Amino acid sequence: MHLSKLSTVALLARGIQAAAVLRFGCSQIIVERLDPLVNPGDNPSPHVHQVVGGNAFSALIPQSDVSELANCTTCTFSEDLSNYWTANMYFKARNGTYKRVGQIPNRFLNGEMGGMTVYYTGAYDGSKVTAFKPGFRMLAGDPLQRAAGGVTKWNAICFRCYNAKNFGGDNYAPCADPSVDSVALPNKMCPGGIRTTIRFPTCWDGKNLDSPDHTSHVSYPATGTFENSGPCPSTHPVKLPQLMFEVIWDTAPFNDKSLWPADGSQPFVFSQGDDTGYGQHGDYVFGWKGSALQNAIDAGCFGATCRALKTQTFAAANKCAVPKEVKEDVEGWLTELPGGSMGM
Ligand SMILES: *[C@@H]1O[C@H](CO)[C@@H](O)[C@H](O)[C@H]1NC(C)=O
Ligand SMILES: *[C@@H]1O[C@H](CO)[C@@H](O)[C@H](O)[C@H]1NC(C)=O
Repeated sequence: MHLSKLSTVALLARGIQAAAVLRFGCSQIIVERLDPLVNPGDNPSPHVHQVVGGNAFSALIPQSDVSELANCTTCTFSEDLSNYWTANMYFKARNGTYKRVGQIPNRFLNGEMGGMTVYYTGAYDGSKVTAFKPGFRMLAGDPLQRAAGGVTKWNAICFRCYNAKNFGGDNYAPCADPSVDSVALPNKMCPGGIRTTIRFPTCWDGKNLDSPDHTSHVSYPATGTFENSGPCPSTHPVKLPQLMFEVIWDTAPFNDKSLWPADGSQPFVFSQGDDTGYGQHGDYVFGWKGSALQNAIDAGCFGATCRALKTQTFAAANKCAVPKEVKEDVEGWLTELPGGSMGM
């Protein structure tokens, strides 16, 4: 089924339709130990990330207009020179060695290689959202979180355990179905892989493009959620589009009981040394050209086609690359997580 039809049907079934939903695939641009948001200039940074988007990605991305620093992107929309990244998932075998878990690309398969699916959603009540400004950046989630609470109280970040049957046909609402969704890593084998959903804060203080912790210039709604049009707090009155990442970890090749821990625990761990999953996080550096993102949302675009935007084929997108800056093996089988088992 075509993606916009699928999503429209799913949303209409819930009686809700956001004004605009950009939903598009981005191929991997690099996997390496750099973090220009949290550890700018550090080469290497403490833990490995998987990165998609524009080719301005580097140990340090100047806080200027990134759309003028980059000249290509691995994403569908060629005016989106932003960078999007997350920690990586690793499999820890019973013998104690680690192997990086690959990613299943955007499930509608237009030619993406690894990477993730990015969403920008307009307001569900039809009110105005204000697109990010050049130099804007933010973090969702907390890499140090190891228990329920924190950002997880908004249900903003979760996993879905895919069984082979529902992969590709599951309902849209992430984090809402307790039979398959959890904030902790699923404690069982998932035959279709494990999906990560990361929803970013949707309210902005209107002044700061970043903040020392990369989160306090933005906020989740004061009450309720973005999906039910909860209001922004007075400290952060500007309503942003909702940025959401969808990453599908290809865990199925590791579903071999003889390699899983003998004590029945699950074997997956994030690159910052988190085997709980509560420390999932996502990083964003805005880099759309001019008013392209605002125009697309105002035009009510849906899915990965939008007349207000220029698109490129994945044959072209997959040529966009950045040089590898950190010379180390991140693919395994590794005796420790890159940067050390604590990964922080
Ligand atoms: C595109 O960016 C790369 C990397 O920054 C640079 O080497 C290259 O010269 C640029 N190409 C053009 C046509 O601007
Ligand atoms: C550990 O187990 C994995 C999975 O079976 C295997 O590929 C790897 O070679 C083993 N490494 C060592 C050092 O035994």
